[in-house]
Amino acid sequence: MDNNLLEQIAEIRAAALDAIVAALEARDLPSLADIRVRHLGKKGVITSILKTMGQLPAEERPKFGAFVNSLRETIEHELEVANAKLGSAAFEERLKAEAIDVTIPAKPAHFGHTHPLTIVHDEAVDLFLTLGFTVAEGPEVELSEYCFDKLNTPKGHPARDRQDTFYCDEEETICLRTQTSSVQIRTMENLKPPIRIISPGRVYRKDEVDATHSPIFHQIEGLVIDKGITMGNLKWTLNSLMRGLYGRDVQTRLRPHHFPYTEPSCELDIQCFECGGKGCRLCKDEGWIELLGAGMVHPKVLSGCGIDPGVYSGFAFGIGIERLAMRRFGITDMRLLYENDARFLKQF
Ligand code: DAH
Repeated sequence: MDNNLLEQIAEIRAAALDAIVAALEARDLPSLADIRVRHLGKKGVITSILKTMGQLPAEERPKFGAFVNSLRETIEHELEVANAKLGSAAFEERLKAEAIDVTIPAKPAHFGHTHPLTIVHDEAVDLFLTLGFTVAEGPEVELSEYCFDKLNTPKGHPARDRQDTFYCDEEETICLRTQTSSVQIRTMENLKPPIRIISPGRVYRKDEVDATHSPIFHQIEGLVIDKGITMGNLKWTLNSLMRGLYGRDVQTRLRPHHFPYTEPSCELDIQCFECGGKGCRLCKDEGWIELLGAGMVHPKVLSGCGIDPGVYSGFAFGIGIERLAMRRFGITDMRLLYENDARFLKQF
C-alpha cells in the first residue's frame, strides 16, 4: 500500500490525539466538541480519507478500510474518555460553586395582612350572617332596567344621567351598576318571601378621583321582606351592625331622606367619635357622620317584582364599604385605600 497514504493517516492520528490531550489539559469542553466535528463529522477528515479509497487497487481496499476504521475508533474512544473526565470535573466544580450553606440564618419572611377594606367587609358580612342573612350575588354589568327602572327610577331621573353612569350601549339599556340595589330586584324576582339577604360587591360611577370619590367602590346591599316588617326591624338591624363595627357605645340616629325605591327613606348617622357630638373637623362641625341609606321598600318596587305589598313589607339599606372603613380607621383620604402603599397598609 502507498506508504505516503499510511504516513498521512499516522500524522492525522498523532495530531488528533495531541489536540485531545491539549483540550483535556486546558479543561476545554468546547474544543473537544470541535475535534469531534472536525474528525468524525460528515464533512470531517475521516470521511474525506475514505473517499480516496476508490483510487486504490481493489486488493488494497480492505486493509486500507481497516486502517481508517481503527483511526476512527481510536479518536472516538479518546474523545469519550476525555469528555468523561472533563464532564465530571466540571460537575464537581459546579457543586462547589453552587453549594448552599444551610446553617446561615434565613431572611425573615414578611407576611402581608388583610386590606382595611376587606377587614371591614368581612366583619360586616360575618355580622349579617349571625343575624340569619344569606349572601346574594348579582352582575356588575347590569341591565338598566334592574339598576334603575324596577327601582322606581324611570328614564329622565338624574341618577341615570350619562354624567353619572357608565353605559355599555347607545340605547343605555346596559350599564356598569351604580349601586348594589339592583340585586334587590334580582332577588325578589327569584325568591319568595321571607327574604333576608345581603349583597356585597363593586359598583361604578362616573366620578373623578378625589379624597372622597372613586369611579369604582364597594357597597353592601341589604334586603328583608316578610309579613309585618317595620321600620323598627330596620333600626334594630342597623344598630346591631353599628355596635358590631364601632363598639357598644356607638350612638346612632335615623334622619329623613329620599330614595326613589323606599318610602319612607332615611339615612343613618353615627355620633362623631372624635368629638362626641360637639362638632369638630372630622364631622364638619355637625356632631354626626352620615354612614348609609335605607328605608321601607316602596310598594311599587314590591309589586313590580310580583310581591303583594298588601301582604308583605320590607326594608332595604345600602352601605358604602369605603365609608365604613374610613370612619372605622379614621382615614381621611379614600385614595389611600387603593394606592397599595405598604407604609399606609401596615397600620391596620
Ligand atoms: N343605593 C343607595 C346608594 O347607592 C343606597 C341605598 C339607599 C340602598 C337606600 C338601599 C336603600 O337599599 O333602601 O346610595
